[in-house]
Amino acid sequence: MKHPQLLFKNRIPGETVFFDGYRKSGGYEGLEKTIKSMSPAEVTELVKASGLCGRGGAGFPTGTKWSFFPSDQPGPKYLVCNCDEMEPGTYKDGVLLRTDPHQLIEGMIITAYALQTPEAYVFIRYAYEDCAQNLERAVAEAKEAGYLGKDILGSGFSCEIHVHRSAGRYICGEETALLSGLEGRRPNPRLKPPFPAVRGLFDRPTTVNNVETLANIQHIVTGGADWFKSLALTEEGAGTKLFGLSGHLEKTECFELPLGVTLDEIVNEHGGGVRGGKKFKACLPGGASTPYLAANHLDVPLDFTAITRAGSRLGTAGVTVFDEETCMVAVTLNLIRFFARESCGWCTPCRDGLPYVAWLLEQFEQGEATEEHLENLRGQFRNIAGRSFCALAEGAMGPVEGLFNCFEEELVDHIKKGRCPFK
Ligand SMILES: Cc1cc2nc3c(=O)[nH]c(=O)nc-3n(C[C@H](O)[C@H](O)[C@H](O)COP(=O)(O)O)c2cc1C
Ligand code: SF4
Repeated sequence: MKHPQLLFKNRIPGETVFFDGYRKSGGYEGLEKTIKSMSPAEVTELVKASGLCGRGGAGFPTGTKWSFFPSDQPGPKYLVCNCDEMEPGTYKDGVLLRTDPHQLIEGMIITAYALQTPEAYVFIRYAYEDCAQNLERAVAEAKEAGYLGKDILGSGFSCEIHVHRSAGRYICGEETALLSGLEGRRPNPRLKPPFPAVRGLFDRPTTVNNVETLANIQHIVTGGADWFKSLALTEEGAGTKLFGLSGHLEKTECFELPLGVTLDEIVNEHGGGVRGGKKFKACLPGGASTPYLAANHLDVPLDFTAITRAGSRLGTAGVTVFDEETCMVAVTLNLIRFFARESCGWCTPCRDGLPYVAWLLEQFEQGEATEEHLENLRGQFRNIAGRSFCALAEGAMGPVEGLFNCFEEELVDHIKKGRCPFK
């Protein structure tokens, strides 16, 4: 089925649209409308009414987040765009910036106006050098056209956007670790509260938003809140979403689809079905830190609410599919090894707990696991989830949770057979 395209309306695979093409497609009309006819508070109210939820993983309502921001407080204040994107299976922000980088720049300028932040940063993954260069060109073009810099369109509002390359670890995507990294410190996460809106970058009020979240803003300004809501297929959703497909599918591309699209449509229509005509077994629906969905979940609509009722999270909507011949214990072990390696080492449940979970899963794969290992693995939820300093360890337990929810019999089978049944 064809669906309306906002973020990918200019998409030609392998090509990047810069200023002229962007303007021809209606680019910067949202910024002009904002500057000429809206107060900062009106922009925030509009985004609140649109139902836009953050696309960086947690799905927090964007307008509500902005409404906590002290935009009238004097002194420096910052907007930071999170383009760290190091979660396995998540690559949508990179595709967006390779397609149409001005969308992010326009969204950031409108957001900076709404929050009254004269300085904004894009914190970008070092491996995305091509995207960083696209952004630098887009920033220069926007400045040249008077949409960015001093006294934007004669409004008296000024804004600068800086592109900062991350040194590159997964933890740098966690918003407070990101702020530490941006300040040039070791990217340790910080205690919350105080939240970044109160004490963020350089101890000043800061809002951190994801690339895709910010790229939606000018579409909401030009189309209106009701139109944006109506794009979703479910009452609870609002807008479209970039779904990055990977794994055992015929087509592993990034698609823009309405929120509320079913997993079945994603897998069998847009993904072209499971590779080699095999059966669908499971998927990570929202990146590596989300619990699995299984074949009985194919009719689940993927929006932020419906998916939680099915026992998972929409996360970043990076959908990684596994076919019937995949050992889900081995998949989980692979993921846990990643999270254990990326732990910043600050708190015990994560630093010591994740390697222990990896060791337990290795016992299953090596055919040495007993009932005791199974109960120990189950007990790690109590020891890790909800007890770590930041959300990395909690997210790492997502696939383990999914393993118990959907594939506990596979763990038992490893014990009974004394080997991995898939080898
Ligand atoms: C370990 C970890 C890594 C994260 N990585 C990213 C990331 O790469 N990009 C991102 O936007 N959010 C990431 N997040 C979520 C951010 O902390 C934050 O919630 C998000 O940037 C807020 O933007 P949003 O409200 O627009 O979604 C990560 C969180 C954790 C715990
Ligand atoms: S959970 Fe703890 S050790 Fe793990 S990354 Fe967060 S702060 Fe660091």
